[in-house]
Amino acid sequence: MNIVRAKDYQDMSKKAAGIIASQIIMKPNCVLGLATGSTPIGAYENLVEWYQNGDLDFSKVSSVNLDEYRGITRENDQSYYYFMNKNLFGKVNIDKANTHLPDGMESDSDKACSDYNKAIEAVGGIDLQLLGLGHNGHIGFNEPSEEFVPDTHCVDLAPSTIEANKRFFASYDDVPKQAYTMGIRNIMLARKVLVVVSGEDKAAIVRDAFFGPITPKVQASVLQLHPNVTLVADEAALSLI
Ligand code: GLP
Repeated sequence: MNIVRAKDYQDMSKKAAGIIASQIIMKPNCVLGLATGSTPIGAYENLVEWYQNGDLDFSKVSSVNLDEYRGITRENDQSYYYFMNKNLFGKVNIDKANTHLPDGMESDSDKACSDYNKAIEAVGGIDLQLLGLGHNGHIGFNEPSEEFVPDTHCVDLAPSTIEANKRFFASYDDVPKQAYTMGIRNIMLARKVLVVVSGEDKAAIVRDAFFGPITPKVQASVLQLHPNVTLVADEAALSLI
C-alpha cells in the first residue's frame, strides 16, 4: 500500500484530487468509482476548479457510485444522487447519462442490486475507486459483519452509522435505515483504489483497517489484499501509525 501523508484536510483534498485528475488525463474515457460522505468534498472542489480553469475534461468519463440510501428519491437533498450532482456532476462537463448510482427507489432489492452489478459490468469495471472510511471501518455501506458480501446488496445500516449520518437529517428517525451498496468484490475488482481519510477521530480505524488483522469486522481491512491501494490521509488520521 502506498501512503501519502498530507498536512491537513486541504492538503489531503488536493493530493487526492491530483490522483483522480491524473487518471482522467491519462485515460480520458476512464471509469471512476465515486464516494460520498464529507471527506471527498474537498477533492471534488479541486476537480471542479481545475475543470473551470480548462485543465480537466470530464466529457468521456463514466462513473459508478458506491452506494445510495434505500427509499429516498433522487430529488431528496440527502440522496447520494443529489450529493453527486451538487458537488461534482452539476459543475463539470460529465455526461449525466454516463453516471450511475444504485436506484434507491427500486423497492425490489434483488432487482436494484442485480441492475447495479450489470451497470458496473457494462461500463467495463472501475479504473479508480475513491473510498472514504467509516468510523467502524465501513467502505461504501459494507458494515462490520461476519462475512464479506461480494456484490451489490441491500444493507441494514449499523446504529453507529445512522448516528454518524444523522447530522445531515432533521432527526435520527429521518435517517434511512437501509442502503444499497456495492459489495467487496465490486470494490476489490477496481484496478486502483484511492482511500481518503482526515481527522483524529479516524486515527484508530486507520490503524485497525490498514495495520490490523484482515477481518469482515473491519471491512476496509480487506484492502490490504488489493494490489494497488493509495491511502491519502492527513497527519491527524495517521497519528496512531
Ligand atoms: C458514509 C458513506 C461512506 C463514507 C462514510 C464516511 O456512510 N456511505 O461511503 O465513506 O460514511 O463518511 P465521512 O467521510 O463523512 O466521514
